[in-house]
Amino acid sequence: MPARLLSLLLTMLTLSQGAVTAYVDDMSLGGYLFLVNREYAISSDYVPDDLTEPKVLGGGEATRMRRDAALALEDMFEAAKEDGMYLSAVSGFRSYGQQAAIHERKIQLKGKKQALRVSAPPGCSEHQLGLAMDLGTKKSIKLNESFGRTPEGRWVAENCWRFGFIVRYKAEWEEVTGYAYEPWHIRYVGKEHAKVIYNLDIPFETYIAQLRDAVWTVGPEGEETQ
Ligand code: DAL
Ligand code: ZN
Repeated sequence: MPARLLSLLLTMLTLSQGAVTAYVDDMSLGGYLFLVNREYAISSDYVPDDLTEPKVLGGGEATRMRRDAALALEDMFEAAKEDGMYLSAVSGFRSYGQQAAIHERKIQLKGKKQALRVSAPPGCSEHQLGLAMDLGTKKSIKLNESFGRTPEGRWVAENCWRFGFIVRYKAEWEEVTGYAYEPWHIRYVGKEHAKVIYNLDIPFETYIAQLRDAVWTVGPEGEETQ
């Protein structure tokens, strides 16, 4: 086990009961660490109750996010602009029905196998959590790998953690995440976790598994269970 992962676990093991409870809450639906993927789906009627339009380039109904995420996105766009980077918001919250339509269209275009590498089935997309954003630049809002090679894409990869976001689908993580490289898709997890995930450079699935293991060892009541 890498030393830095071990140190994360040791940190978790020293958590107080209150902190453990907070982590458990944060990993539940409504918390910023809730994991959604093809294995862990959410119900078709889930809609966050604090969806907010970020006041950023490209912002509008299609780019709504949960309030904290929308505000963090605004901060990130401002900081990017100060560095001469012009980002554009492309797609934020998507309802179950919207995701179903997008996914079906991808299947028609690419066939089921390829579609599954790039598009989440309904109920399995982080966009339904209101915590994901697809980004483009002022010049192009095409969601493809070339975003990762733009100055804006590189800036996002290096800096989004400072605002509580992680780049969710790196090429080398496909076996774990189930999705191909998506440099444009960022996920809000809050600043504290984004910093740790960025430094560990591990997929969100791996991070959540480690937190679950650590919380399980301490126990939801903060007691040693083994
Ligand atoms: N493109 C990502 C995986 C989604 O559909 O949520
Ligand atoms: Zn996305």
